[in-house]
Amino acid sequence: MKDADALYHELLDRARRMGQEHIFAYWDQLTRLQKEALLRQVQQMDFELLHRLHQTIVANKKPVNVTLEPVQPIPLPRTEEQKQQTKQMAAVGEQALRDGKVGAILVAGGQGTRLGFDGPKGIFPIGPVTQKSLFQLHAEKLLAARRRYQTRVPWYIMTSESNHEQTVTFFEQHGYFGLPQDDVFFFVQGMMPALDEQGKLIMDRPDHVFMSPDGHGGIFAALKKSGAVEDMQNRGIEYLFYFQVDNVLVKICDPVFLGYHIHQQADMSAKVVPKRDPFEKVGVVGRINGKLGVIEYSDMSDEEKQARDAQGNLLYNAGSIAIHVLSRRFIEKICNHDIELPWHIAHKKVPYLDEQGQTVQPDAPNGYKFERFIFDALNYAERAVVLEVDRSEEFSPVKNAEGEDSPSTARRDMTRLFASWLRTAGFSLPENVDEMRLEISPLFALDRDEFLHKVEGHLRIPKAFYLE
Ligand code: UD1
Repeated sequence: MKDADALYHELLDRARRMGQEHIFAYWDQLTRLQKEALLRQVQQMDFELLHRLHQTIVANKKPVNVTLEPVQPIPLPRTEEQKQQTKQMAAVGEQALRDGKVGAILVAGGQGTRLGFDGPKGIFPIGPVTQKSLFQLHAEKLLAARRRYQTRVPWYIMTSESNHEQTVTFFEQHGYFGLPQDDVFFFVQGMMPALDEQGKLIMDRPDHVFMSPDGHGGIFAALKKSGAVEDMQNRGIEYLFYFQVDNVLVKICDPVFLGYHIHQQADMSAKVVPKRDPFEKVGVVGRINGKLGVIEYSDMSDEEKQARDAQGNLLYNAGSIAIHVLSRRFIEKICNHDIELPWHIAHKKVPYLDEQGQTVQPDAPNGYKFERFIFDALNYAERAVVLEVDRSEEFSPVKNAEGEDSPSTARRDMTRLFASWLRTAGFSLPENVDEMRLEISPLFALDRDEFLHKVEGHLRIPKAFYLE
């Protein structure tokens, strides 16, 4: 670091010009180390951007007119022709996997506030019988795909400052779940400060400006800064399968989805399911002001959520399950700033300092946080595939501690899926399996077809059953 005193004067001057000099209000009371930490933090700050955000977003609260139109995804294969096409697309995806052109990206930087779990969400125990963690479940799916296609699939995992160390330690303690360590690449996403109603930065300690993760759209900057993009280039990776940490049913590196994306030379693609009900908390893939994108549930009006088409189906029904394929070239385009993703604003409770310099946890929202969303990149895709998939096979997220989208519904949905595999294979099971706990390791079978190949005959299944 430059001479701390000179740097302090330079940054104080910059802060003063932007009306943010209060961040140095406690300067004289700080220790040398605290001063250095504060300077490092302020040095990274883009005051102009924050000023623009305050001007254009916070100060200007006028509603913006957004036109929304539904999209027709590629439907589930029902006809013989569609089934044939699915097979052809799977073959394209499988070839890309065998050729070592596919990598996986997991975003796991979120704070999991709704689940109320202390620690990275990926370490949450979820296996219905084994209690294996979300991370282990995903890792084993990748390991199984590597074995099946005799390939390497580098795995890029995005963490945030608050959970990075714990995440890496968890992988180390578990021997990377059998994956070669060289093929697991952790990178940390960026942080953004918050602004109060007056557009001032919020301090949460005398030596610290409050910051929170910059959203999963921060992935592009973080991929570049960490060297992950370069790593993809060096390995000849062309397609990245993107998923979130919370979905227990995600088909990691699904060859059908990869195949469609590759065949249509798409930049970015998205999987969707019909919404469970009008108010399900999922984004909707649609045309926003004429361009493909995802409109977040919190940005849709109740009228839009409930709108129906002539057949009585929900009009905006393409629920985003946050699974994408991105071409590496498209990622590079965004990383090179050919495309700037917008910032979303959220009015939240942000810890702040009272007049005595004590940290206060507010009871009501007092600040604006800023996040970027990866799905906004769809707006800029020249070509994109939107593929409908079967919810019961591909989507069951762990979001809340109880009720819908919770650990118990995730375990139930895994059990139901494995029960359907077992039934197809001729095993006899009670009609309602919700009281049972069934689990089939990805290392035994990654999907129904593989399962069918491996098992034969009839068997009574005990109440708890695990197959590896
Ligand atoms: C998200 C999507 C929603 C989609 C739903 C499907 C957003 C804003 N919305 O909703 O459109 O229908 O999933 O399940 O994403 N994360 C980071 N860094 C961050 C913030 C989040 O890595 O700064 C990661 C989380 O660890 C998680 C994922 O992004 O894996 C989703 O974040 P979350 O805030 O839980 O989004 P949802 O509201 O569940």
